[in-house]
Amino acid sequence: MRDLEFAGDFVAIEGCDGAGKTVQAKRLADNLRDRGKDVLETQEPTDFRCGKAVYDAIENDLSPEAAGMQFAADRLQHLERRIEPALSKGKTVVCDRYVHSSLAYQPALQHRTREVDLERVHQFNREITRPDLTVLLDINPATGLRRVRERDEEVEEYEGMDLQRQVRHNYLRLAGSETEVVIVDGSGSRDEVENRVLDLVAGELGC
Ligand SMILES: Nc1ncnc2c1ncn2[C@@H]1O[C@H](COP(=O)(O)OP(=O)(O)OP(=O)(O)O)[C@@H](O)[C@H]1O
Ligand SMILES: [Mg+2]
Repeated sequence: MRDLEFAGDFVAIEGCDGAGKTVQAKRLADNLRDRGKDVLETQEPTDFRCGKAVYDAIENDLSPEAAGMQFAADRLQHLERRIEPALSKGKTVVCDRYVHSSLAYQPALQHRTREVDLERVHQFNREITRPDLTVLLDINPATGLRRVRERDEEVEEYEGMDLQRQVRHNYLRLAGSETEVVIVDGSGSRDEVENRVLDLVAGELGC
């Protein structure tokens, strides 16, 4: 990953399926706006053509390695077209899933086909800009899956319990080795999690 300096701050929200990323990214963006920040909310995979190809890759059961490259290509375009222009203008970017999703999920999928280890996923993402802060919403996979099942009519294979356990393990290991990745307890009510996230981010951003 690359470390670049921008006028604005870049915050990514990460976690297992159903951890509350989409709910909390929205709430965080609104809270930061209340504190005077100009906020860009965005998400991965993107709505660019590259992002749609990511969903095709998942549906067509591409190998984790090929899918990992597709995610990285979408991310690079996301940075070039949307994230970095906003950061250059001094905006705060809140991104729902980013590079740590690849680092946590792709190696967890390796048992299915060809191997793709963490080092390989790092290689795909070598040109990717590191966020200033990554909020890892940590949740028991059973709670996350229950939330997903209540939300969605169809639950995809991506959301199986064994996979989620491995993904959580990978996320926690990343948080242990990278100081910019901070764990926030994703259990409890939406309001409780919102306050935890805001305390952390406002502290880091000084707002
Ligand atoms: N703290 C919470 N308590 C109970 N339900 C919650 C909580 N946070 C989110 N939910 C609900 O759980 C479901 C999953 O939340 P959300 O969509 O934000 O998770 P996500 O991490 O974005 O999931 P995905 O990985 O599938 O994108 C939603 O229906 C949401 O309204
Ligand atoms: Mg979501």
